[in-house]
Amino acid sequence: MKLIKTSTYEALSQMAAAQIISKIHANPRLNLGLATGSTPTGVYKRLIQDHEVNKTSYKQVNSFNLDEYIGISKKDHNSYHYFMCENLFDHIDIPIDQTHIPDGTAENLDEECRRYEQFIQEHGGIDLQILGIGQNGHIGFNEPGTSFTSRTHIINLAESTRKANSRFFESLEDVPTQAITMGIASIMESKEIFLLVSGDSKAEALARLVNGEVSEQFPASVLKNHKNVTIFADKEASALL
Ligand code: PGA
Repeated sequence: MKLIKTSTYEALSQMAAAQIISKIHANPRLNLGLATGSTPTGVYKRLIQDHEVNKTSYKQVNSFNLDEYIGISKKDHNSYHYFMCENLFDHIDIPIDQTHIPDGTAENLDEECRRYEQFIQEHGGIDLQILGIGQNGHIGFNEPGTSFTSRTHIINLAESTRKANSRFFESLEDVPTQAITMGIASIMESKEIFLLVSGDSKAEALARLVNGEVSEQFPASVLKNHKNVTIFADKEASALL
């Protein structure tokens, strides 16, 4: 894993965005894996700015999101469909039918997991996956204990994850208890991975990732087995390294 430490969150966002943009210029048909949460929003802002100023085009890009809550409609402000439209898709020229997110309202959720997994494979896999990390080491919504061989699946969200995400909901009770997430094996098949880590609440997780052992109890640790991972971490997140 390559570690890039930046002084600020803005610098982290700038550096990661610049690298994503240059990869899209090099391969306009990039299959781009996307993440939700607070961490990548700075990167998405910069992709939008660059699209407006420099006209970088996403017309041939396909995007694949990591996860979606189960039981929340696409129009709900807390769905990841809504988040992605608000924070990125509505502001760049990516055709909406080339943006892919698991459907957490599918009638048959097991079938939806199989479909999504196969769909990614049929598109040739993900070239570059953007990831955040949970305080408990989750990647996507793969909570501690998830098998490293997992494919897109239904996950019961950890209580700590529900609490962390309750800041977006009216109350903790409103936070879904389940999600569909790409599996760990699905994520590991990405040709390249950018892990974005920001803020002092992530310092322990980053230190455990860098210094700890590879274990299913700490899902992000699997990234040590991947050949092409870059971690972008700001000063606060790097405080315990
Ligand atoms: P965050 O979420 O970017 O909102 O901290 C990251 C994650 O839980 O994977």
